[in-house]
Amino acid sequence: MRKALLATTVASTLALATFGSVIAGDDADNALLTRARALFKPLPADASTPERPITPQLVALGRALFFETRVSTDGKQSCGECHQPMYYGTDALPRSVGNSGKVLPRNVPTVFNTALQFSQHYGGNRVDVEEQALKALVSPLAYGNKDFAAAEARLRAIPGYRPQFEQAFPGQAEPVTAENWSKAIGAYERTLLTPAPFDRFLAGDTAALGAQAKQGLDKFIGIGCAGCHNGVAVGGQMYQKFGLTQDYWNLTGSTEIDIFKGRDKGRFQDTKKDEDAFIFKVQQLRNVAVTPPYFHDGSVAELPDAVRVMGKLQLGRDLSDGDVADIVAFLESLTGEVPAQFAAVPSLPIGGYKRQ
Ligand code: HEC
Ligand code: HEC
Repeated sequence: MRKALLATTVASTLALATFGSVIAGDDADNALLTRARALFKPLPADASTPERPITPQLVALGRALFFETRVSTDGKQSCGECHQPMYYGTDALPRSVGNSGKVLPRNVPTVFNTALQFSQHYGGNRVDVEEQALKALVSPLAYGNKDFAAAEARLRAIPGYRPQFEQAFPGQAEPVTAENWSKAIGAYERTLLTPAPFDRFLAGDTAALGAQAKQGLDKFIGIGCAGCHNGVAVGGQMYQKFGLTQDYWNLTGSTEIDIFKGRDKGRFQDTKKDEDAFIFKVQQLRNVAVTPPYFHDGSVAELPDAVRVMGKLQLGRDLSDGDVADIVAFLESLTGEVPAQFAAVPSLPIGGYKRQ
């Protein structure tokens, strides 16, 4: 009897001990979760807004147009040429090659989750994904059309699109327009969200991140990365100077850019205001582990090096190898799944503009 009691006591003490350590682990996890929830948000189902609604017809049309090359002057440019399914919505080049072989001044960011950023492009010179898609039509580096009328003529020369435009924009006398092109592509982009383990963590499943990723999250917040990279896209919510402690090219090895006649000065390239020199959009970090190379000019090839550069340039800190490895493990938890409506290129209507 006594022996049995002792055994029970030992067993329950053991159970209590184990239970106690689980509680301690849970406490640490819950504390981290609380800190993370104050800074980040899980992805919504899509990035539509009351002003930018999405319908299945808009998205289907936008998906086709995204991969359409016949609206460009060299017959080769499409969003999908530079934002490719196989590279998580990038082209994996340091700098993209555009119309008639022209090299673009900047590295291509992913189109995934980009509609959730507060502006588009490294210099933030596009207010949203719709304006971005519209202006690409007349950019000499992208679609190369001399004006919107020329782009619309190319679009109207592919008869198969007309019924799709009519369904997506019912009741319009002439729905095949540049503006509707941008609304359809924008609607499609607003569906390209990639839920990741970090979203499951934020939803309360603390086991969704491994121990090293949790340490990395703790450091990402504690060191100060999250001061700039926060919100639903872990970035994309503000502008900041790139190179707070020294000139960025000292650490990135960036070269001068012909088109800019020197250094890429970020927002200054568009605004020409001195206070905008070297101010860039704080890039979103969703899918960053699978979208090398890094920074506005693709000057850094590997993620651990990009993290080290950020620590030194933005926070004046020499991160240890352990810090870098932990932060990279956290950044890997931001890798989501390629959306099904992006993984395969849709079949496009036949006819129209001839390739040159
Ligand atoms: C020739 C290559 C090329 C083509 C074609 C192209 N893009 Fe891009 N895209 C880029 C590059 C390079 C940037 C970065 C430009 C910058 O930041 O100044 C970019 C930036 C973007 C951004 C902003 C992302 C961010 O993080 O700020 C979006 C959105 C985008 N492109 C969507 C599209 C869509 C939609 C199309 C088709 C209508 C398209 N792109 C066609 C190369 C291309
Ligand atoms: C003061 C604001 C600020 C802080 C702090 C900051 N960043 Fe950044 N981060 C930026 C800006 C701005 C960019 C875009 C720079 C560019 O591409 O030219 C950027 C870009 C990046 C990129 C490259 C993204 C890409 O797709 O090319 C990574 C990775 C990154 N940051 C990680 C971190 C990490 C990790 C920390 C903490 C050690 C950190 N950042 C701290 C502002 C900041």
